Amino acid sequence: MTWVDELRAREDACRRAPSAHNTQPWVIRYGTDAVDVHWDPQRALPDSDPTRRDLFLSLGAFVEACLIVAADAGLPVRAEIAVDEPARRVARLVPAEALYATPFPAAAVERRRCARGAYEPGPLDPAVVAEVAAGADLRALASRPLAVQLEAADRHMFATPAVAAELRQWMRLSPRHPRYAVDGLTDKAMELSRAEASGLAAVLSPVVYPVARRLGAPAMLAAASRSLLRYDGSVLVLVGRPESPAALVEHGRALLRVWLGLSERGFAVHPLSQIIDCDATAARLAALLEPAPGEWPLAVFRAGRPLREPVRSARIPAAAA
Ligand SMILES: Cc1cc2nc3c(=O)[nH]c(=O)nc-3n(C[C@H](O)[C@H](O)[C@H](O)COP(=O)(O)O)c2cc1C
Repeated sequence: MTWVDELRAREDACRRAPSAHNTQPWVIRYGTDAVDVHWDPQRALPDSDPTRRDLFLSLGAFVEACLIVAADAGLPVRAEIAVDEPARRVARLVPAEALYATPFPAAAVERRRCARGAYEPGPLDPAVVAEVAAGADLRALASRPLAVQLEAADRHMFATPAVAAELRQWMRLSPRHPRYAVDGLTDKAMELSRAEASGLAAVLSPVVYPVARRLGAPAMLAAASRSLLRYDGSVLVLVGRPESPAALVEHGRALLRVWLGLSERGFAVHPLSQIIDCDATAARLAALLEPAPGEWPLAVFRAGRPLREPVRSARIPAAAA
């Protein structure tokens, strides 16, 4: 078996990488002595993610997952990050002199999961934040003062028809959805009760949404997430320079390392990208962080110890990809 075959045999483990809306935008092409990572434009989010920040962060997380899985299997592999727009390729995995240096086993990629329910109160220890940052610019903020920004960002998200439609496209609010076990965001992953899931499905349905939107549904839905940050917890923000798609891919690799570092210490994350997708709340967040010129918040997430064990999210099996 070549190293490419060995890595291919572990594709399902690599596919545990996180992606926005769980679209799993990666396309893997196996060569004789290289593995190319491309993206599928059908799995991008042109309305929710028009700058493609989350697309390239997710692809970076996938590349990092591949490197960790390869190292764990004893395969010396490195990644050449080079974004080729016409070919829709972000990276090429090639043989390396030595194993990829990572503190994480492949099992850590498998163990990590987002948790969207309640967390134990109490801020994260700054020493933990510094450890998991591992050189990345990771800032910790108190959760409570950000509750108003989250509500404003949610209102903006639910009030923007194209963004709401994209959310509807990727939500799997009933186990009867044909893609429930494959991709997207399930009711269970979002920790919604049966009644909440049915209510959300009804409000976002193409027939009801235009009317519900005019009658104030976005404010009502946003109010429902108000309590998410009204506890004494921590919100972490990855700050960096989004100067190019390749830079975002590298930030995505760092983001997965941070999430794995937290996960291996018993902490989960709940990303709140809507805060940086809404210009007004992104600007308020940036004002709090005072990043250096050219730097910007790239990922925002609540982090803490979840009170309930989060569910394992769906993935497209390698055999079906
Ligand atoms: C770049 C990026 C942005 C994300 N943004 C959000 C978000 O705004 N809200 C959210 O609930 N989850 C967000 N997620 C988490 C994904 O929905 C999650 O990774 C995916 O559903 C798979 O679930 P898992 O991470 O538990 O395996 C984001 C993930 C990535 C990589």
